[in-house]
Amino acid sequence: MSIAITGASGQLGHLIVEGLLRRIPAEWILACVRRPDASGWFEERGVSVRPCDYDQPDALEQAFAGVSRLLLISSSHQDDTVRLRQHAHVIEAAKKAKVGHLLYTSFAYADNGSVPLAHLHLATEQAILASGIPYTFLRNALYTDIVGALGLPGAIAQGELVVRAGDWTFNTVIRPDLAEAAAAVLANSEAHLNRSYELTASRTWTFEDLADALAEIAGKPITLRRDPEVQSWIYGFLSRIDTSSVSGDLERLLGRPTASLLESIQPMVSRERG
Ligand SMILES: NC(=O)c1ccc[n+]([C@@H]2O[C@H](COP(=O)([O-])OP(=O)(O)OC[C@H]3O[C@@H](n4cnc5c(N)ncnc54)[C@H](OP(=O)(O)O)[C@@H]3O)[C@@H](O)[C@H]2O)c1
Repeated sequence: MSIAITGASGQLGHLIVEGLLRRIPAEWILACVRRPDASGWFEERGVSVRPCDYDQPDALEQAFAGVSRLLLISSSHQDDTVRLRQHAHVIEAAKKAKVGHLLYTSFAYADNGSVPLAHLHLATEQAILASGIPYTFLRNALYTDIVGALGLPGAIAQGELVVRAGDWTFNTVIRPDLAEAAAAVLANSEAHLNRSYELTASRTWTFEDLADALAEIAGKPITLRRDPEVQSWIYGFLSRIDTSSVSGDLERLLGRPTASLLESIQPMVSRERG
């Protein structure tokens, strides 16, 4: 048995490898990374490392040789045209290497989105379907990290959270929950063949909830002010993706509810406040 993870050196990748180490022998895990010279963390844990650069298509087939299950963690490149080409390289190599099951970190409710990012994930899913390789799509919702764009330290300092007026609800998730679910699926992937999961929070949150959570963390009242004039790129992006649909898929895979908003933002706020 060989379970390979691309992008293993990233934040999600590390957490997935940790989750796998709690479930299966380290010898079964293969960390596929762009820079194998910086892979001490994996070696210390008995996890083998292979070079895997999405921009080096000729070397990818070798990286996936003998792999039964492969998780493609979507590329972090800024240009979605480049990302699509990179994903195509991985899919082609997986097919040539006769990988038995290809899993992919897609985007939740991508069909309801109108940003290039949503099209990229749908196009990658289509390419995987066209390859004929048995698949699982782990459609990850937006990371709760987006709250970082809302000026939380300033809100705490001033006792006021200012947000764009509108009817906003959020189905965001944290990496540790997504990673735990991905590890559970990878470790028992026959049960998830040719399935697609919408990995959202168990329940949505609103800006009122965010102000309440901040108040609890700060130990002082935080009022919410809705301002139609607030300028930030984030609102344009959020309005063109589906941040409000909720599925029970992640909760079912975890066997528990997803992290609460308070639990999710506490470490981020502490980090930002120094
Ligand atoms: N759902 C969301 O809200 C959300 C938000 C942000 C990102 N994402 C997506 O989720 C993915 C995982 O998230 P994350 O937090 O783990 O991101 P991350 O920490 O930035 O990790 C990205 C990983 O992709 C690898 N990578 C980038 N270009 C590559 C290439 N050409 N060949 C091979 N590997 C390459 C990086 O390798 P190096 O270590 O060598 O750089 C790294 O391991 C991201 O890549 C992105 O596609 C989702």
